[in-house]
Amino acid sequence: MTRVLVLNGPNLGRLGSREPDVYGAQDLEALRALLEGDAPDGVEIDLRQTDHEGEIIGWMHEAVDTASPVIVNPAAFTHYSYGLRDAAALVSKAGLPLVEVHISNPHARESFRHHSTISGVATGVIAGFGLEGYRLALRAVTAG
Ligand code: DQA
Repeated sequence: MTRVLVLNGPNLGRLGSREPDVYGAQDLEALRALLEGDAPDGVEIDLRQTDHEGEIIGWMHEAVDTASPVIVNPAAFTHYSYGLRDAAALVSKAGLPLVEVHISNPHARESFRHHSTISGVATGVIAGFGLEGYRLALRAVTAG
């Protein structure tokens, strides 16, 4: 059984009601159902959300210790967290896939969203396809 950690950063617990024009009307439970319905046999989805930087960093350490692939939407941490970047680097440097996902396309938005501290240590980046981006990421981390 492969467990895929699907980690979501700050304010993503508000999906569904938060800026639906940007992030859509579906919430995290809808995302969980989408991914569970799409997961190949033998793949377990472990979807989590936190508003706390230390917690998501701890989950990266857990991914290394349990050899779990990671799909991460770091949300606003994307743009300034060097701590999360260093933790994400531990995952990809351990040879585990780490896919950075954004629901919106940050490059088409305010300039502070154009820089990601995470992308340089991610295996790949998917942005701008709504919740479908997580599905594409799941395909990427479970391929082969
Ligand atoms: C986001 C984009 C970030 O800029 C923003 O801070 C978020 C969500 C996205 O999924 O589009 O909270 O990561």
